[in-house]
Amino acid sequence: MNSIRLRPLSHLFFALFLTFAAVGNTSAQQVGAAPAVSKEGVTPGATAAAAPAAAAGATTGDAAAISAGDALFKGNCAQCHAVNEVVVGPALGGITKRRPMSWILPWVKNSSKVVASGDEYAVKLFNQYQKQQMPSFQLSDAEITSIVSYITSEEGKGSAQTAGGVTTDNQSKVDGKTDGGGAGATAGAGQYVDILLIVLVVVLIVLVVTLVIIANIMKDVLRGRKDLDGRDVEVLEQRFDFSKLYKAPAVRWIAGVVFVLVVLYESVQGVMAIGLSQGYQPTQPIAFSHKLHAGENQINCSYCHTSVYKSKSANIPSANICMNCHSQIKTESPEIKKIYRAIERKQPIQWVRIHNLPDLAYFNHSQHTQVGGIECQTCHGPIQNMEVVYQYSALTMGWCINCHRETPLNTKGNGYYDNLVKLHDASNNGVPFTVSSNGGTECSKCHY
Ligand code: HEC
Ligand code: HEC
Ligand code: HEC
Ligand code: HEC
Ligand code: HEC
Ligand code: HEC
Repeated sequence: MNSIRLRPLSHLFFALFLTFAAVGNTSAQQVGAAPAVSKEGVTPGATAAAAPAAAAGATTGDAAAISAGDALFKGNCAQCHAVNEVVVGPALGGITKRRPMSWILPWVKNSSKVVASGDEYAVKLFNQYQKQQMPSFQLSDAEITSIVSYITSEEGKGSAQTAGGVTTDNQSKVDGKTDGGGAGATAGAGQYVDILLIVLVVVLIVLVVTLVIIANIMKDVLRGRKDLDGRDVEVLEQRFDFSKLYKAPAVRWIAGVVFVLVVLYESVQGVMAIGLSQGYQPTQPIAFSHKLHAGENQINCSYCHTSVYKSKSANIPSANICMNCHSQIKTESPEIKKIYRAIERKQPIQWVRIHNLPDLAYFNHSQHTQVGGIECQTCHGPIQNMEVVYQYSALTMGWCINCHRETPLNTKGNGYYDNLVKLHDASNNGVPFTVSSNGGTECSKCHY
């Protein structure tokens, strides 16, 4: 009955807890809203840049010219150009600020003539875009002007990021730099979230301190009251006892279970690290298909993996090898445009590595393909049927050694082996001369 008197205290704590949770929630919402806020932070700059451009569009052409330009642009230019984004050719947004109409007209009609004339800007741009020639267009001055009006009317539209980077992006392109303006905007958003998190933590700490202070004040008030009985006082003077917590069976159980789970997880990870990644099939940045290239189009493996017969490792082809064909083939495919973009940015395509032996093992491709005469498919499986490459073999030590035990060494026509094989055949009746007979299972052959 007496303990009822203490209820107000617990109610108070409950109410405080609710406020605590509510404050935490609103702060969390603020964090969630951060990207939106920062986006707004970018857009004003972008629209400010776009506003004069739109005004310019209004003076250079009326709505009819813009819609005619829209159609002409989509029909003739869109496969290589966008207004606010580099596709095959540069982003055309801001072109009237970069070049006068007296330059744009002859350029669109015959760009190679402008380049050949030695025009400094044209030559620099042409080299920048890997000397890709823009086709010549039989368009009238009026038609080209309407395309330009359309472009000016579209400037700054699209994502805030590209809009923010229009001018800087193109200038840096011509200067030979490759960084875009968009990255800064994203980094800015990240920083904003960081700051909000710090504010959130500070707010939480302040709240906890306030709570402790309030609790102490409440206790003092209660201590001043005379009508508390023994149990009330006990509750009031209770201290948090860690040793009780530690001795509680439930806590011990939980700790035990967590410990077992961690050990299990670590051992599974350990086993994985020994190289059991058979079947690993990551998604690649470009939807490159071996089935299409090595299968249907019968391109030799070594056309792309040029070093596979010559050296320890098989290389992954650079984007330039793709360009041997894709400067002509499927040029408007979005997947192929990723290759062009990689070249423009002078950054290699970020293929995800699939096969990977630990550093302690030595494996040499030319030894197996050129000298041993083993087909790629023996180890890599039916690559020519794979849309996406996966790891076909286990690549464990047992896998290497099994094959070395079973595979007869190709010794025909190699004088070096003649005596060895004779000696071997004399002492091992009928057992073939395998890789392991030649020492292919000695530790030092595969381990540094
Ligand atoms: C087959 C691809 C292709 C098509 C189609 C194409 N262009 Fe281009 N354009 C380029 C390339 C590539 C460049 C960069 C210069 C170079 O390499 O010759 C370029 C450059 C330009 C430039 C100079 C840009 C700058 O930033 O200074 C303008 C203007 C231009 N193109 C307008 C047009 C117009 C208008 C059309 C449609 C009528 C068009 N282009 C169609 C590929 C193309
Ligand atoms: C047109 C070029 C081309 C041809 C031809 C080609 N490849 Fe590839 N290969 C690639 C590219 C690009 C990658 C990296 C992307 C991927 O994994 O799909 C790759 C990846 C691989 C990988 C996985 C490498 C890793 O990350 O561990 C293997 C194995 C492979 N190729 C084997 C072959 C074999 C075998 C053939 C012939 C039957 C062949 N390739 C033909 C371009 C080619
Ligand atoms: C020897 C010529 C050749 C080389 C080199 C080559 N390709 Fe291809 N590629 C082709 C052919 C042919 C096609 C099929 C085109 C078709 O379907 O009409 C193709 C199609 C593709 C496609 C599918 C495009 C689509 O949208 O349908 C992609 C993606 C592709 N190649 C990527 C690459 C990459 C990446 C490389 C460099 C590692 C590369 N190719 C190297 C000849 C080549
Ligand atoms: C005897 C088995 C075997 C044969 C035969 C073989 N490979 Fe490999 N391949 C491997 C192993 C093992 C790796 C992983 C090597 C590493 O991580 O160091 C690998 C890796 C690769 C890679 C990834 C790049 C690298 O070198 O790590 C490519 C690409 C590749 N092989 C292509 C080929 C092609 C193309 C052929 C046929 C001409 C071929 N391989 C034949 C076992 C083989
Ligand atoms: C498909 C069968 C096969 C597989 C799988 C295989 N090898 Fe081999 N390996 C051979 C053959 C055949 C030779 C002998 C080539 C020659 O010199 O004629 C050889 C030779 C070698 C040699 C040189 C041995 C010597 O005596 O000089 C080394 C080192 C080697 N392999 C390492 C490896 C490693 C590491 C792996 C596993 C990642 C592996 N091999 C997987 C067939 C295989
Ligand atoms: C034919 C090549 C080959 C020979 C011979 C060979 N190994 Fe290995 N070994 C490997 C490969 C490949 C791996 C890595 C595969 C993996 O992680 O499963 C490996 C892994 C190991 C590991 C495991 C390392 C780890 O991180 O778990 C040990 C230990 C080892 N080898 C010892 C030996 C000893 C000792 C010998 C001599 C009796 C030997 N190996 C002979 C190819 C060979």
